[in-house]
This record gives sequence, C-alpha cells and structure tokens, in this order.
Amino acid sequence: MCGIVGYIGAQSAASVVLHGLRQLEYRGYDSAGMAVINSDGALHVRREAGKLINLAQLLDQEPLQGQVGVGHTRWATHGPPCQRNAHPHRSVDGKLVVVQNGIVENFTELRQQLQLDGYTFHSDTDTEVIVHLIHRYYHNGSAGNLVNAVQRTLHDLKGPSAIVVLSQDAPDQLIAARLGNAGGVAIGQGEGEMFIASDIPAILRHTRQITFLENRQMAVITAQGAHYMDLEGSPLAKQSIQIEWNPLAAEKGEFRHFMQKEIYEQGRSLTDTLRGRLDFQQQRVMLDSLNLTDDQLRTLDKVTIVACGTSYYAGLVGKYLIEQVARLPVEVDYASEFRYRQPVVKPSHLVVAITQSGETVDTLAALEEARAHGALTVAIVNAVGSQAARVCDGLIYMQAGPEIGVASTKAFTASVTDLFLLAIYLGQARGTLDDARRAELIQAVAALPGLAGELLENAWQGNLYKDLAERFYQYRNFLYLGRGINFPIALEGALKLKEISYIHAEGYAAGEMKHGPIALIDQEMPTLVIAPRDSVYGKMISQIEQVKARGGLVLAVAHAADETIKAKADVVLPIPISHELLTPILAVMPLQILAYEIALRRGVDVDQPRNLAKSVTVE
Ligand code: M6R
Repeated sequence: MCGIVGYIGAQSAASVVLHGLRQLEYRGYDSAGMAVINSDGALHVRREAGKLINLAQLLDQEPLQGQVGVGHTRWATHGPPCQRNAHPHRSVDGKLVVVQNGIVENFTELRQQLQLDGYTFHSDTDTEVIVHLIHRYYHNGSAGNLVNAVQRTLHDLKGPSAIVVLSQDAPDQLIAARLGNAGGVAIGQGEGEMFIASDIPAILRHTRQITFLENRQMAVITAQGAHYMDLEGSPLAKQSIQIEWNPLAAEKGEFRHFMQKEIYEQGRSLTDTLRGRLDFQQQRVMLDSLNLTDDQLRTLDKVTIVACGTSYYAGLVGKYLIEQVARLPVEVDYASEFRYRQPVVKPSHLVVAITQSGETVDTLAALEEARAHGALTVAIVNAVGSQAARVCDGLIYMQAGPEIGVASTKAFTASVTDLFLLAIYLGQARGTLDDARRAELIQAVAALPGLAGELLENAWQGNLYKDLAERFYQYRNFLYLGRGINFPIALEGALKLKEISYIHAEGYAAGEMKHGPIALIDQEMPTLVIAPRDSVYGKMISQIEQVKARGGLVLAVAHAADETIKAKADVVLPIPISHELLTPILAVMPLQILAYEIALRRGVDVDQPRNLAKSVTVE
C-alpha cells in the first residue's frame, strides 16, 4: 500500500523521486521521506509526517542534491503515522537506508534478536528490522558484500515485502527486491538512467520500458542497467515490456481532483474498454487475450468471481450478466473470505478475479488458491503488467487508463463492461445465444459510451448535483436500495459516499427493506432508489411508495422522461434509456457524482480520504 520510487542517473534524484511520489501518493499518505547520496558522498535523509506536501516543503528548506536516491509514501501498518516512523529507515552508522512496502510478519521475534545483539530501535515499524539485519550481515557474515547481506536478510523475513536499499558504501547502485505479493516493483530503463517504482505512473514521464520483479527476485541497478537474480544469487534473464499508457492520462489536467476527472472521462474510457473487442460483421465479441479455447469454455460448469471492495460489487453485477447470458451458475466471493474458507474449486471451474490495481493481496491469494485446485483463471485488471495480469491463464484488460483517485469509478464501469463482454463470449462458445440475441447485446453495448457521455455532459453542464449536495451534505445517514441487476449498484453507491464523505450509508436489496431497514426511515434518512424501467420497475415503484408513506425522502435514479417516478420521488437523478443489462453502468454514475459533490462540501480530500490507500497490498 506504500509507494516507493528510486532513481539513479544524471538528473536530480530528489526531483525525479518527488515527482514520482506525487503520482503514487494515492497508495499511502501518512508520512513521506527520501534519501539521497549527496555530492559529498554521504547519505542524507529527509522525512516528514503527513502528506507529501510536508516533505516537499522540508526539501525546499533543506534540499538534497545528488543523482541517486529513494523515496517513500507510507500507509501505516506498524506504528502511528509520525516522523519517527516515516521511511527511509536508517542503519545505526547512518550509511544505509531501506524503504519497504509490505509487512514483516516475524518482526517481533527479529526485533528481539536484534536487540539482544545490541541494536537500538528508533521507530515502531517492522521495516527497521530489515535495515538492522542488512547492517548486521554486511559487517558480520557477508564480508562487506551488500548484495549478499540483502539476500541473507530476505531469507530471514516472513510475509510479503518489496524493498529498496541504498548505501553510501555502494553509491553507484540501488538494490530492489520482492518477496511474495507485496505489490509491484517496476524497474524502468532509460538512457544512462534507471528508475524503480511501485507503480508505473510514477515513472511514465521518463520511460515506458519496464521490467517487473516477481516473487523472490531482486535487481542490482546502476545508471547503465539492471542485473536480475533470485535470492540465491543465480542470474535471471528478464524481458522488459513496452507500456502504452500515455503519461498525460495519469495527470489531473483541468480537473480539481483525479476522482472528478475519472468520473467525467467514463464516456472515453468505455470506448477504450470496447476497443478491438466487437466484431460487427460477425456480431461476435473478440477476447483474444482470454487465452481459453471454446472447448475449455464449453466444459465449464461453474464460474466463481473473486474480488474486493468496488471490484467485488462489479463481480455481483457479473453474476447477473453471466447467469442470464451464458446460463452458467456464478458464485461471487470476497477474495479475503474465499482464501480462508476452503472453497470447493474444481478444474471444471473458471475463477475470475477482478482487480483495478492487479495488486490486491487477497485477490492474488484467492487466485493462487484457485490455481492450486486446477481451476482455469482469468483476471479482469486495469494496471498494465501488474501481478494479477501475469499469473492468470487468461486476461481481460479494462483498458480504462490509470485510475489514481482512491475511490474507484471508471474501473468499476470498465470492469462491468468487461463482464458483459465475457458473458457474451461464454454464451457464444457455449451456444446459449442465438444470432438475434447476440446482435441485440452487441448493438446495445456499442451504444453505451455515447449514452454515458450524454449523461455525464448533462451533469457537467447543469447544477443538479451541486444543488443536491448543498441540500444533503449535512445529513448523517443514507440508505441505498436496488433490486435485481441494480442491487449491487446500491452497494456501490453507498460505498462511494462512505469512503469519501465519511457519511454512514447502507446499501440494501430493495426486497429486503420490509425485513428490517424500513424501521430506519424518517425525514433524517434520505433513500436513494435505483429505478430504471427494467423487469423489477414495478417493485421499485412500490418501494418508493413505502418510503414516502413513512415520511422518508426519495432520490431516484431513473430515466429522465419517467413521469411516474417524477411524480412520486422528491428528486430524480436522470439516466438515459439503455438495454436493461447495461443499466448498472449508467445508474452508478449519478451516485458517483453525488458522492463527489457531497464530499467536496464536507471538506474531505477526495482523492486521499483518511485511512484508505489505493492498492491494498497487506492483509
Ligand atoms: O485494485 P482492486 O480493484 O483490487 O481494489 C479493490 C478495493 O480495494 C477497491 O475497490 C476499494 O474498495 C476502493 N477504495 C473502492 O472505491
């Protein structure tokens, strides 16, 4: 969840690293720090509690000069977010620093051993054991061989860790290593310069030639290139890949927040998601990267979707899509539950992981579990080259472009669109779709980006959401209701409001309302009702009546021209008419915008809400 950036070359390391950290701040913003070997040959460290801006201000007052350096933004796991616990952590002689993303699970035991050996700890972090271990091996056992000392240290660690090591005794190199599912370690190749980053947006403006470290791999990096090896020191031949993302896509541009940009670019991102995947002549979906034959798809008897957070809610929509279109039973599981409940997984099952970052530790572990049982695995993933993209049998890239805002928006609509494509693809292979139905679905999805663009343009031009936010931002509780394929949209709408406005919101299956939550209804608890003209429209109208009968306020996501809803609800959040199976993708957008506008008025830092991080790489 933390962000790491390293640089070695001819530029100012501090400025390259600071720029990179700005692109990674979504990963953690409890504290930040940097170490650079200055022109005097000594290692200098700057650290500050709080957001990156605090470190930037410190660097203005006390600049770092030098061409090799490493930086870190922290999401606290061990010890409170304060300067003492900020990375980089330094060895007792001050010559060596380490930054880490991950957790040292056996840290208590290692700390005790090191204390017995005379090491004094200056922080509460697990990372500090790593720097002391390297220091101890370097002086005792590795005979001054830093690479060997790092390898020996890594053998002592339990749990996932990505680390970068910099020493003033070896000022012309950085050492990067990865243990387990600690999140990405991307190594970027430049001309006479090299970069390290937890995620590629940090270094995209410098290079698109990237090599990723896998579990138990390390790299010794100089300005000229990288030598890859395993933790035993055996050399590895690794291939770099060319990343096609446009660096500008990871910038905010004219928008106030990344989240705002990512909401309003969904017309474009959905076009990209569909790019190259619809064959209008044959009326078929093409998903070449799925890498599974029609025979394999025909013999499947179950699909299991695993994911976390917003991606999990996308998976719930996927259940409706795949069951209706491909007539295959689908189970959707929180990845964090799946991995620990001894699930029944067979080779005849397809396990689909959905993950924007491709780094979520629970989702990666669920995939491992599925593979261990011989299931076919597919990842729907946004981050190009990420771990999830590399470990599955098949792959569907969301093609949404970098998502930086902590609250996921365009990745949600992209992943639901991908699930729609997957449902058709499975239906094609399994013969559950006749020509007419296939053509109907393909025409419907082709129209989707235009409908999304129209919805978002109207929202951008008008004042509806600003006025609503003004009216509702001080309410303490909200209820979201949906039914059928839009039930997961109620869950997702509530999650969006919770995570960026800190308002309590509950998503509920509308039909369950009478079984308890109806007791909550009063003037103080607005109810968001998702009610497009779909097969459960009549039921949703009854739901609205029931809330109104109890004095509740109703905000309905409904078709703009729906006069029935207009007459019954207090407010209508309009969406255009679309195919029923695609309504979730449009219905979620008003909820994203409303959450954003409410959060603004509550003064929350929308892109970096408290306690959260974009990639959850620790358990
Ligand atoms: O990168 P992933 O899609 O695997 O992330 C899963 C969740 O952590 C993520 O969706 C989270 O719930 C977001 N904050 C939601 O906006």
